[in-house]
Amino acid sequence: MKIKQIENKYFMHVYKRSNLIVKRAKNQFIWDMNGKKYLDFFAGISVCNVGHCNKTVIKAAKLQLDKFAHISNLYYAPLQIKLGEELAKRTFPGAKIFLSNSGAEANECAIKLARKWGFINHSKSGNRYEIICFNNSFHGRTIATLSATGQEKFHEYLKPLQEKFVFAEFNNINSVKKLFSDKTVAVMIEPVQCEGGVWPANKIFLRKLREFCDEKDILLIFDEVQCGMGRTGKLFAFKHYGVKPDIISLAKSLANGFPLGATIAGEKCAKSFIFGDHGSTFGGNPVSCAAAIAVLKIMNTKFLDNSIKIAKYLKIKLENLKDKYSIIKEIRGLGTIFGIALSIDGGKIVDYCLKNGLIINCTHNTVIRLLPPLIITKNDVNQAVKILDKAFERIKI
Ligand SMILES: Cc1ncc(COP(=O)(O)O)c(C=O)c1O
Repeated sequence: MKIKQIENKYFMHVYKRSNLIVKRAKNQFIWDMNGKKYLDFFAGISVCNVGHCNKTVIKAAKLQLDKFAHISNLYYAPLQIKLGEELAKRTFPGAKIFLSNSGAEANECAIKLARKWGFINHSKSGNRYEIICFNNSFHGRTIATLSATGQEKFHEYLKPLQEKFVFAEFNNINSVKKLFSDKTVAVMIEPVQCEGGVWPANKIFLRKLREFCDEKDILLIFDEVQCGMGRTGKLFAFKHYGVKPDIISLAKSLANGFPLGATIAGEKCAKSFIFGDHGSTFGGNPVSCAAAIAVLKIMNTKFLDNSIKIAKYLKIKLENLKDKYSIIKEIRGLGTIFGIALSIDGGKIVDYCLKNGLIINCTHNTVIRLLPPLIITKNDVNQAVKILDKAFERIKI
């Protein structure tokens, strides 16, 4: 395969790519170079949540592209400002936005903002900079966000890491309390740990976490890079939980495939940044912002409610598979985030599905992860489950 050889020769070998060479994609489908059609139940890692080449998104992006692609953040790009307004209105009163290009950058901004807030707010009692994160978390690939990531495999060869991140047990409030010190400035958490094996936080835990942060006057940061933008059936995961964070980070599906990250901060800390504290050349690219405004328009209550109906249907079908195959230990997740926990390596299941026209993923070796676009239909679910069924049938022990 020529393309594979060229990649092998000229690229750093950081991705384990499958043999799929994509020619085009539309809605929930992808076609390869030979014209073979695939049903996409991964959406580019929860990026194309409103479907590939969504008509409304593409139209909005093209319109902006014909005007200008970039002007720098030293001037006003109307649609960038409009997006900030739309995001702020949808989160909480007093929200302020910083736009970047990716999830890691959105989290970097959150970490910097928390530290600056701690410096200003707690300076009398000594500087605060420590952030409590969680085992199994994933926050990005920059040094600071990797340091905040609670998975040792990402830390190998990179030490010393950025200080000072400490790791509590997910869904365990006592573990958080034990780690608190006079240096703690924030708690940073994914409401659903997706990369870490699909683990949703429980509601009571997040509520207790909010109470604890208020009691100690520290910030609560929600990393919604993967679980935000409609994945839980609400526009933002915090709305699903009824717990208001002080900072939210978004990326992935925010612009449905155009690079964009957002850090949204509430009244408590948003004003801690002043001129010069943060910035980005490409952050809030006008074409990406045009796409994101279109995404927000599409993701209305009716759209999200419908995604939940289909998600419930998919859940029932997956539970049926679990009853049929003992290698399936658990079906877990939230909204349209699904983890099928296996007692075996999931790689072969993913390969079989791909060969048979279904795109899925495996995380943590044994957890099949489904992140379909939110536009899938019952027919799509039936087709996907049929392929999964055959995959388990062939592999069952
Ligand atoms: C929860 C979470 N945070 C941050 C990131 C990093 O995002 P990006 O790859 O856009 O930098 C990811 C990526 O998978 C993620 O899942």
